[in-house]
Amino acid sequence: MTIQWFPGHMTRARRQIEEKLKLIDVVIELLDARIPLSSRNPMIDEILQGKPRLVLLNKFDLADPQTTQAWVAYFKRKGLDALPIDAVTGNQMKEIVPRSQALLKEKIERQLRKGIQPRAVRALIVGIPNVGKSTLINRLAGRKVAATGDKPGVTKGQQWIKAGSELELLDTPGILWPKFEDPGVGLRLAATGAIRDEVLPWEEVAFFAVKYMVQYYEEALKERFSLDVEGIDLENPQEVVEVMEAIGRKRGCLQSGGRVDLEKASTLILRDLRAGKMGRISLEHPDDGVDLSVER
Ligand code: G4P
Repeated sequence: MTIQWFPGHMTRARRQIEEKLKLIDVVIELLDARIPLSSRNPMIDEILQGKPRLVLLNKFDLADPQTTQAWVAYFKRKGLDALPIDAVTGNQMKEIVPRSQALLKEKIERQLRKGIQPRAVRALIVGIPNVGKSTLINRLAGRKVAATGDKPGVTKGQQWIKAGSELELLDTPGILWPKFEDPGVGLRLAATGAIRDEVLPWEEVAFFAVKYMVQYYEEALKERFSLDVEGIDLENPQEVVEVMEAIGRKRGCLQSGGRVDLEKASTLILRDLRAGKMGRISLEHPDDGVDLSVER
């Protein structure tokens, strides 16, 4: 689902999260492991007002493991604990409770010294649309929690969901907006499926994805499409388009007269990429050198 974010929506979304912060101990910031910065809200540090925070790099099953490790190190340098998970299978999710408790170590120790048995950690999950918030909540709850209406401003009665005896979640996640005014961010969000608009500029998005793969995932292109892209000049857009056409030709995306249907080839490339059919691919690396700073 695509959300049209207007200033009013952003203000409301922000206010809703700020109100919930009073109720919780820890924020679970959910990011897409393939594009951790592009799937991040640009004002997150300001919105969370210093609340203890655990970063979850979701959809790790689709992300490049090595690049994800580089991201974990990146967040560590920023003072944040980041844990790669897969909310569909639940992989690594057992770590969420101990990591959250570790963030509250001092508070918990203080309570224990006073003879108070600490209660379950109360958490709020926040993230942009389609990053996996509902999937994570359902997984942690062990049941399907009612759909939350993934729209800024749509709320219902606040409820706590038990995730075992040591973790409680607010049932309505905090929905945040991405830094969509940055074209590089928009392309990454579209390529990974965070923006699932029917009117997506498929060719433009596929061009970005193919160029990135020619640069960093030559092997994946070779394996999936038997294409040798060595020596492609990335500065020459025509050469990248030729790679897209070669994929289209191999996959039978042809128009009458034998010309490649580039639009069709583009949708096919992106569907494959989103579904992980080209292997585990990340579209953002801390060393990319692109300015993807999360500050305003
Ligand atoms: P949201 O609440 O943040 O908006 O996201 P939601 O849970 O609805 O998840 C969005 C999509 O991402 C869902 O796919 C979901 O299955 C998928 N997803 C969530 N976590 C993971 C993960 O760790 N790995 C993978 N591979 N996918 C994940 P969908 O397209 O809505 O449905 P479908 O593809 O399951 O049919």
